[in-house]
Amino acid sequence: MTTTENDTPTESLTELADRVSETHKKLYGQAPEFIVAAPGRVNLIGEHIDYNDGFVLPMAIERYIVMAASKPTDTDEAQSQYHSISMDSSARLAATDQPGSDPSAPGWACYVQGVLAGFHQSGRPTPTLNVSFDSTVPLGGGLSSSAALEVATATLLEAATSTTLDMREKALICQKAEHDYAGVPCGIMDQFSSVFGKDGELMLLDCRSQEITAVPFRSDDITLLITNSNVKHELNGGEYAERRSQCDSALQKIGKSTWRDISMDDVNAARDQLTDLEFKRARHVVGEIQRTTQAAEAISAGRWDEVGKLMYASHDSLSDDFEVSCEELDLLVNLAREVNSEGGVIGSRMTGGGFGGCTVTLVKRDSADALIQALTSRYKAETGVEPSCFTSRPALGAHILSTP
Ligand code: GLA
Repeated sequence: MTTTENDTPTESLTELADRVSETHKKLYGQAPEFIVAAPGRVNLIGEHIDYNDGFVLPMAIERYIVMAASKPTDTDEAQSQYHSISMDSSARLAATDQPGSDPSAPGWACYVQGVLAGFHQSGRPTPTLNVSFDSTVPLGGGLSSSAALEVATATLLEAATSTTLDMREKALICQKAEHDYAGVPCGIMDQFSSVFGKDGELMLLDCRSQEITAVPFRSDDITLLITNSNVKHELNGGEYAERRSQCDSALQKIGKSTWRDISMDDVNAARDQLTDLEFKRARHVVGEIQRTTQAAEAISAGRWDEVGKLMYASHDSLSDDFEVSCEELDLLVNLAREVNSEGGVIGSRMTGGGFGGCTVTLVKRDSADALIQALTSRYKAETGVEPSCFTSRPALGAHILSTP
């Protein structure tokens, strides 16, 4: 287990943009011409089913990566310079770079490089830029800091070339960057959330048709609490790809072309053809697809108790059947479960890929402070690690903050 970096104190988007802009001036001796922002995301329910043709119910969060850019005075320069302020590291990148072409580049550079390459391959220009960026999305905390970096890069290229990409194409270029340049075979949820986020709305994303149905988050007396366990279990790194291939082989053995055509009866009927692991993975996928559409309906109808039950059921399935939780995430969810509705908790679950990262909890607004205190003291007492908690409304997706 490694503990991840603790949250930076919350800065508003405007404060973050001002700070990035000031640092940019000092670094390059030029005021930025373009400033863009792209958010991280949290998923309320529908985990590990975006790559299984399922439904997911994420939202963009009020935590952003901000990128500022200016055109270098030396116009012959073919490589752009990207600088991460928080990590104090830089990379010189060109749109024709191959994956892994510079092993000494900082870890974050592959996400930027992949998006530059995607732009280039789509026949669009990729101007040479001096870029600085920083972020309030916790790094490696399961809130899609990498998707935010990809989507910010794509938004910056749009601003600098005065083009507007089709939003789906933009999200897919970013997903491809993650596949080809970071080697992570992710689904479409993270990039779609960062591109399509809307103020006050969750999005029910049909990962088969890529259609989005808005699910307004109407309740003023309920808030969404994100708790970062601040741990990350690296395992052997291949767990995500392994889950994908277990799902694919279960699907094949059940004999259907998509999980959307499979009921729990089909899974049970195929029990003998499946290995124990495949059976458990299949049970999660089919159950989670149902839970997600039910949760979207329940939110729209204001049936919050039902939403809470579905969140707990989702967590149990991810922990027992899909096996992507960990002791720390289970502990946070169990602590919330103990506080229960008497303490204003509606539901709680792990969110994102798992093996560390965050939980998401629905809680009555009046009870949020007491819950944060209870979670913090008890989690710290049991693990020795301090969690970080923050609340977020569904936020606006990637956008341009300023152009000349
Ligand atoms: C990661 C991936 C997503 C999704 C989640 C699990 O965040 O990037 O595509 O699969 O895990 O729901």
